[in-house]
Amino acid sequence: MGYFDGQVVWITGASSGIGEALAYALAAEGAVLILSARREDQLARVRAACPVPERVHLAPLDLAETGDLPALVAKWVAQLGRIDILINNGGMSQRAYAAETSLAVDRRLMEVNYFGPVALTKAVLPHMRQAGGGHIVAVSSITGKFGFPLRSAYAAAKHAMHGFFESLGLELHGEGIRVTLVNPGRIRTEISQHALTADGRPHGEMDPGQAQGMPAEVCARKMLQAIRKGRPEVNIGRAEILMVYFKRYAPWLFRRMARRVSPQ
Ligand SMILES: NC(=O)c1ccc[n+]([C@@H]2O[C@H](COP(=O)([O-])OP(=O)(O)OC[C@H]3O[C@@H](n4cnc5c(N)ncnc54)[C@H](OP(=O)(O)O)[C@@H]3O)[C@@H](O)[C@H]2O)c1
Repeated sequence: MGYFDGQVVWITGASSGIGEALAYALAAEGAVLILSARREDQLARVRAACPVPERVHLAPLDLAETGDLPALVAKWVAQLGRIDILINNGGMSQRAYAAETSLAVDRRLMEVNYFGPVALTKAVLPHMRQAGGGHIVAVSSITGKFGFPLRSAYAAAKHAMHGFFESLGLELHGEGIRVTLVNPGRIRTEISQHALTADGRPHGEMDPGQAQGMPAEVCARKMLQAIRKGRPEVNIGRAEILMVYFKRYAPWLFRRMARRVSPQ
């Protein structure tokens, strides 16, 4: 029996990209899944492609609308008995200069990328405490470790995730509830198409850098390894993850590179 066999795993952002790849990888390992995102038709498509669709449940939600989350979580705990692992993966990027981005877009990126995962985590946590254990995963970004052109609000929201989830992991130490922060680099998904521009419209293009990124399936596999090992934090990607170390150990080199690398 594998590590995830029979575990109840809730994945947000499961209608495409990394979340979809996580759903297939976990389903193949025998997990019982709850899949969330806004597009219910896409969640249904993912469920249909899983080996045993009856073990996959759909919980459509909008991460910007957090009021109903405690009731939604209570409903699924009542139905499935518990939530073993919550993967806060749903999110949205940005392709716009800070000076041109409307404050409404800044706020939206913070709602979806930060307050949504925080609210869902707070709704799930009492149930994990009652069950005596669990694992909370926060999918941040390497842009949660440094600023980057065209990503001001996205980077801010991902930095905020680090502050919250690292603190939470320290607070929960000894309670049997683990917290893992995942920092993907460039992963080949639809993230650049869905990214918000200055006025809130989607960027709508697969950026060249994105197209050359690590396949989502490989990223998902590495994420599951990190979860299995209970790692507090993991960087996943190709050469771009070196930027995390340049920023930390040679900030002058980081700044020189970040000014030169194409943000698209
Ligand atoms: N791809 C990368 O290079 C990369 C790098 C670093 C970090 N990440 C992070 O990885 C995570 C997954 O992104 P991805 O690359 O797989 O991009 P993606 O293909 O665009 O997937 C994003 C997912 O988030 C969901 N989502 C977006 N807004 C939402 C909202 N308001 N409410 C609920 N769900 C919402 C989307 O579903 P709906 O549209 O159906 O709601 C979709 O399932 C994100 O947190 C992203 O920041 C990705």
